[in-house]
Parts: sequence; structure tokens; C-alpha cells
Amino acid sequence: QRPLRRLLSCPGTVAADLRREEQSSGNAETGSEDRTPKKRFSELQNERREQAQRTVLIHCPNKINEKKFLKFLSQHGPINTHFFYESFGLYAVVEFCQKESVTSLQNITRTPSLGPEAAIPFKSRYFNLKLRNSVNQTSELSSIQCSNQSSPSSKKLYQLLCCAESVDDQLNTLLREFQLTEENTRLRYLTCSLIEDVAAAYFPDCAVRPFGSSVNSFGKLGCDLDMFLDLDEIGKFTAQKTSGNFLMEFQVKNVPSERVATQKILSVIGECLDQFGPGCVGVQRILNARCPLVRFSHQASGFQCDLTANNRIALKSSELLYMYGALDSRVRALVFSVRCWARAHSLTSSIPGAWITNFSLTMMVIFFLQRRSPPILPTLDYLKTLAELLLKEFFEYFGNFAFNKNSINIRQGREQNKPESSPLHIQNPFETSLNISKNVSQSQLQKFVDLARESAWILHQEGKDRPSPSSNQPWGLAALLLPSVTNNVPLSKKKKKPASERIKNLLDSIKSSGAENSIATNGR
Ligand code: CTP
Ligand code: MG
Repeated sequence: QRPLRRLLSCPGTVAADLRREEQSSGNAETGSEDRTPKKRFSELQNERREQAQRTVLIHCPNKINEKKFLKFLSQHGPINTHFFYESFGLYAVVEFCQKESVTSLQNITRTPSLGPEAAIPFKSRYFNLKLRNSVNQTSELSSIQCSNQSSPSSKKLYQLLCCAESVDDQLNTLLREFQLTEENTRLRYLTCSLIEDVAAAYFPDCAVRPFGSSVNSFGKLGCDLDMFLDLDEIGKFTAQKTSGNFLMEFQVKNVPSERVATQKILSVIGECLDQFGPGCVGVQRILNARCPLVRFSHQASGFQCDLTANNRIALKSSELLYMYGALDSRVRALVFSVRCWARAHSLTSSIPGAWITNFSLTMMVIFFLQRRSPPILPTLDYLKTLAELLLKEFFEYFGNFAFNKNSINIRQGREQNKPESSPLHIQNPFETSLNISKNVSQSQLQKFVDLARESAWILHQEGKDRPSPSSNQPWGLAALLLPSVTNNVPLSKKKKKPASERIKNLLDSIKSSGAENSIATNGR
């Protein structure tokens, strides 16, 4: 618990702590539950990328003899690990120990003949497996154990949450159920690697790297796959090797700006994915956006993908979030709960628009954690209920935040005067002149504030009158995730705004009368 305790007791020093943490041990550490040192972000990324390059994706018949399947593939070399999953058919992800095995497998693979249609021959690492003598083999075929790639249904989630012992327990349950699994993570890196093969046809030595919630440890099962085409490594090493009086440079084409270069590159890669990319469908080239991108669905993995280029800064912000998430497991539990709460109330959406994004919400949670200041060492009891308190206080904090005049600045861990008039202003920590939530409208922000207040109220009531487990009544986090929080708040049944104001006033009065209380009891 050490890092978060520090984080809670000395606001504003997180960055310094992170730096110290990195310098002293060479990596960020996790909280008390998992004391094994975590790898550096870049190390982890490189390891996963290399792993993905030895991996293949195979569309299989619905029933298959697993043992024989693996035996067939091991003719090309030893297999390190494999798993199956379902997504409109049965798929296998097979990781060989050596990269050469993939080439060997590709060498015995044929291009299908399609009858009247014609195939564009493209040698990828995404295969289709067919049974030669399906009649003879049927007796040996069996159903396969599949790894789950989707988040739990709301029904299952409510059941799990209602069985939990405390809100703290609920937060951890939600995290466990929604976080990316090892298999899902592998599938994400593999998908990037398959796209990299297509891009490498134009740009050998390029890398396609995942960023955003796929890698920042805040990704929920089902979240999109953000990837960027990294061309920075091309021609880097060779330049250092040259000696003497001569210096060789590639003859290149010049364009007016970085942006134009990015647009041109993404335009051709988008075209390639559309024309030849196996399993890439619905390819859209959105090149006039602030950050030009190619959006497509990767059918076999089921991922909605956003490919950008020249976007190194976004990888940096993913690394920053990864480090915050690694400081203490409760950071992630809180972020997941807030994200799920926002999704349940349509504060966030998978469609771009005027709503708050998950990225903005995550920054708000981090900011909130930076601003907390119980200037005392918490007792053991206090630590136990900390996560529970944090969720309630997160809602209270932002239910009362002066969004009209203040900007959220996680670089300095403090609120600042807004430099412009957007309803919600969250400074981009790496490009400080940008507002990451410029898209958010006043009405969406108001909805967020109203829901935050009402949710704080529900959590405040929680504990006073928790229903018995047998009654099957949603309580705590389960109640917060119900389609309309307002249905659970008897006070707010009338008009929405006045109720929210009344709740704010109630919370304020509770807070001021509870101020000495919380010091005296030092956490319940
Ligand atoms: N990003 C950014 N500035 C923004 C929006 C996004 O720097 N205004 C970067 C962040 O690094 C973010 C990544 O782009 O993590 C991906 O954006 P997005 O997919 O919107 O957010 P995720 O964090 O991936 O969350 P989600 O699970 O909703 O996809
Ligand atoms: Mg994303």
C-alpha cells in the first residue's frame, strides 16, 4: 500500500515519486497485493511485439481434434503456447518458439481457388484450416475449450456485485471481470503485428504499436484497439554504423509538412488494408481529423481498430497512465468503476461526439487522487475502506468542482484558471496548449455533474440501509450501474435539476458536519 499512501498524503509529489520509483528499482512497483516488480513499459511492449511476430492466427473448423492439430503444427517447430476463442467461428492463436516456424508453415500453405471469384494472393499469418477427410475424422473431433474475449453481461455483473461483501469488494470484482485477460492482450498485439506485415510491404522496418487502453492497464474487454504506425526506426541504425568522410542518405520525396506526410502514408496503408488486408473490413480513411487515422474492423479478432501514424506522444501518455495504474491496484479499481458507471449512464459512448471520453475520465480520477489530502497516516481500518471512500469522494469532488472557471492539470496536480471557454477543460499533459476534452458540450458536462452528485448520495446512503443479500436488491456499485441512478434516489423522483442541487446541499452539510468526525475516527 506504500505508494498510494504516499500519493494520498503528499499531493503534488506523484511525478517525483514515480521518477524515484523508476530510478531505484528500474521499474514501477504495484501495490501490496502484488509485490513482484513490474516491467518497464517499453520492455513490456518490445517483448510482446516479438512474441506476436512468432504467432499465427488460424480460423478452424468448428470441431477439431486439439491434440492432432497441435501435432500437425509442431512439424514446423515447437509451440510455446496456444489458445482458442470464438468470434463468428472458431479461431486458434498459436505462438511458436521460433520465428522460422511461421515461415515454414507459410511455405506449405496454398492460396485457395475460389471458383468464379478470384483471390488476391497475400501471404499473411492469418490462415484458414480445412479438414482433408472430414468424414473419416468426425469421430475424433471434439468441442474445444475457448477463452472468453468479451465482458460479462449486465445480469451476471449485478449478480456478482450483489454477492460481494463490501463496496471495496465490488470495485475489485468489477476490475477482475472487465480487465483485459492475458489472451485478449496477446490477441491485441497479434492484430497489430498482422497489420504491421501489411505496412511493412511499403515500409520495411516499420512497427505497428498498440497504445491507449489496450496497453495503459485501464482497458476493458471489448475496448477499441488504438495502434500507431511507427516509422521512426527506419534508417536509424545504419546511419550510426557509417564511418569516414562519407555520409549516405536515402533519396526521399519531400512534402510540405509532417501532417501531409502522415496523411499520405495513412492513405496508402488504408488502401492496402482495404484491398488486401485479410479480415480487415469497413476501412474508413479519416485523414482530415486533428489526428489523421484509418478506422477499420478486424473481423477475426473482433477489434475495432484506429490506426494513426506519427503519434509518439500518445504512446507516452499511455505509458504515464500505465505507471499510475501500477502504483496501487486501487487506482485501476477506481478508474474501472468510474468508467463502467459512465458507460451505464451513457455519459460515454463508443461513437465519437460531444460526450466525455474514457481517457478524460481516467485523467479526472488521477487528478482527484492527486488532490486528496488526509495529512495523516491512515490506520489499517482506514486503508481497508479506502477504495470504498474513494468512489464516494470522487463523485463528491467532481459533483462540486468549479468546471466553469477551472481547468484540470495533471502535470502540476492542481486546478488552474481555464485558458479558454470550453465547458470541460483538461490539459493535455504533453501538449499543454491542447484541451483533451474540447469536444464535451455543456449539457453532457451537466449530466456528468448531476449523476456524480446523485451517485455520491446513493453511496452515502449505502451502509445505513443495505438490503439483506436474500432480497436480491441492488446496492452500492450495483445500484450505481442501474440504467437510471435517479430511479434509486427517492429524493430525485421529481425534477432532475433541483434534486441534484438538493443532493449537493445535503452532501455539503454532511461533509461539513463530518469533517471533524473523519479526523476523530480516522476512517470508519
Ligand atoms: N489521446 C490523446 N488526446 C486525446 C484523446 C486521446 O492524447 N484528446 C490518446 C491517449 O493516449 C488515449 C489514446 O489516445 O489513451 C486513445 O484514445 P481513446 O481510444 O479515445 O481512449 P482510450 O484511453 O484508449 O480509452 P477507450 O477504452 O475508451 O478506447
Ligand atoms: Mg481506445
